[in-house]
Amino acid sequence: MLESILLVGGQGTRLRPLTLTTPKPMLEVGGYPVTAHQLARAREAGVTRVILGTAYRAEVFGDAFGDGSEFGLRLDHSFEPEPLGTGGGIAQAGAMLESGPDDPVLVFNGDVLTGIDIAQALISWQNSGADVGLYLVRVANPRAYGLVPTDEQGFVTAFLEKPEHEREIVTDQINAGMYIMRRRIIDQIPRGEVVSVERDVFPKLLASGVKTLGIVDEGYWRDLGTPAALVKGSADLVKGLAPSPLLKENPDLREDGSALVFSESHVAPDTELSGGSVVMPGAVVEAGACVRGTVVGRGVRVGAGAVVSDCYLAHGEVADEARLTAEVVC
Ligand code: GTP
Repeated sequence: MLESILLVGGQGTRLRPLTLTTPKPMLEVGGYPVTAHQLARAREAGVTRVILGTAYRAEVFGDAFGDGSEFGLRLDHSFEPEPLGTGGGIAQAGAMLESGPDDPVLVFNGDVLTGIDIAQALISWQNSGADVGLYLVRVANPRAYGLVPTDEQGFVTAFLEKPEHEREIVTDQINAGMYIMRRRIIDQIPRGEVVSVERDVFPKLLASGVKTLGIVDEGYWRDLGTPAALVKGSADLVKGLAPSPLLKENPDLREDGSALVFSESHVAPDTELSGGSVVMPGAVVEAGACVRGTVVGRGVRVGAGAVVSDCYLAHGEVADEARLTAEVVC
């Protein structure tokens, strides 16, 4: 048995108005909700049970994923009537765990696409003797993030707030939103309180001497927090840059990775679909239209001769001959 907690309770404020009706982890990228890709990846890595930590619009997840049998997983839902933050969410979901005190539990943020080899990360963590493992990535612009330096053995030495001065940029490693925690560590997080795992839990654990391994991965990583990242992440899934079992041998995926076109959509023959575009079921792309790196959502119509690039079209219609670049339409 390998248990996992998937945090999906955030409000997704940076993605409003898309997230006013659909929680961020339920937004469709690469043809499926972010959560569906994550469940499939978790299963592939050997996870047998997932507890979804829900708060905002929790009912949507129950309707979509039920008991998880469709993914070959046991899925349970933990609900916070008042959102408890990332740490509080882990603590509340943690009450449902069945693992032993020293067993590893995988914790995932619900808005991250990653190429990390999860099973290998577990092995590295196990070999290190650490109680906590933290997936880290290197970024080109560390200024925008909290930083996580490590020592020569790979153990985390500090959790630093966003740097304000050049001299504070001591590393380019940041928290990538996946953790391995022994069950007894999760049990130490206060229950029923608003707690941040990044700002409260990890710094306190480090201060109390808990060994935390930084697992630095050089592969694919994208946080889907903003509209531009959402659009890019979707295209990366279709192009195969971001791995997802849901896109392997998918009959609707064009062989060259140019587009995922669901058979229940209607695409006129003389159209251009490219750049990892997605045409969802019920969508219509009219004659002469050009769709590049774009998600054409359920029931959306792209008019004849329109050119749409890097857009997320969640609802409505793009007029004939219109030009749209990097827009969210909902
Ligand atoms: P923004 O409001 O745009 O920052 O998005 P967000 O609300 O999703 O916050 P953030 O990106 O920091 O959240 C990281 C992950 O934690 C996401 O998968 C969220 O769904 C999840 N999360 C954030 N707050 C909570 C919470 O209070 N409870 C639970 N269960 N999950 C949360």
